Amino acid sequence: MCPVEKFNPHKTSALKFKRERERDGRSGRSVAIREVTLSEARSDALEFGLATDIFMQLKSGKEASLYIASWRGHPIVLKAYRFWHTSHASKKRGWFAPARMEALAAKEYDVLMAAFRAGMPVPTPIGRVANYLTMRFIGDGLVPAPRLKDMVIEKPESVFEQIVDDYLTMYSVAHYVHGDLSPYNLLWWRGKAWFIDMPQAYAVDTWCNMKRVIFLLERDIRNIVAYFEKYGLIANVEEIVDRFLGCYVPENQMRAVHLYWSKRSRP
Ligand SMILES: Nc1ncnc2c1ncn2[C@@H]1O[C@H](COP(=O)(O)OP(=O)(O)O)[C@@H](O)[C@H]1O
Ligand SMILES: [Mg+2]
Repeated sequence: MCPVEKFNPHKTSALKFKRERERDGRSGRSVAIREVTLSEARSDALEFGLATDIFMQLKSGKEASLYIASWRGHPIVLKAYRFWHTSHASKKRGWFAPARMEALAAKEYDVLMAAFRAGMPVPTPIGRVANYLTMRFIGDGLVPAPRLKDMVIEKPESVFEQIVDDYLTMYSVAHYVHGDLSPYNLLWWRGKAWFIDMPQAYAVDTWCNMKRVIFLLERDIRNIVAYFEKYGLIANVEEIVDRFLGCYVPENQMRAVHLYWSKRSRP
């Protein structure tokens, strides 16, 4: 396993501020994009000891690029967070963006670790330096596992139960809501759904905004219930949310939960 490094002020940042000015097609505003190229990701990952080789790009999303890498012959995934925001923000807070990318990578690493320790099916986190994190490769050989969205499931009922049960573990043991749970962020591998992509997870603790927790929980569960409707499965979102709230609510947050229940019961 490679060493994990978090916010080490003595380490030079991986972000070398290669900014390009581009036009945002939709809004017409100029946006600053900092792309991580394959060769840059390779040299950073090797320098940081996160991987011993990078094979190919897996995907380039809005905020992150993913690569299939290797650690001494074993396939792993390298996720690189990129700079991306509007020129308005960059004028005011341009210096802040690299810290934000590091924070996203650190957050995803921490949440993955908490979920993994709680026993959830997630890619085991391996390391994190600056805006890069590495994790277990979910797939066979160098072929990544498909997303649940692209699969036809044979036993939808038991898969639905597995997802809800594992999400309940995330909520009640790791104390996080995923915040972006959908069939896009579940991989189908070895007969079960694996949870990925959790930089926007939200901690459910003494300091949280419980209203926000319930909002995210409802949205995540609704996405899963909606997906399984195409298999003819009918499930009640509110009942599932209540099951979660019945398992865990931080002591000082009960008031917000009662408020939610009383609002819901009004016609
Ligand atoms: N650990 C992994 N193993 C295999 N494939 C992965 C892994 N993590 C992500 N992927 C693939 O990369 C895609 C994008 O990853 P994700 O973390 O969801 O980033 P994004 O923020 O771009 O959606 C996923 O839909 C999945 O196909
Ligand atoms: Mg995703």
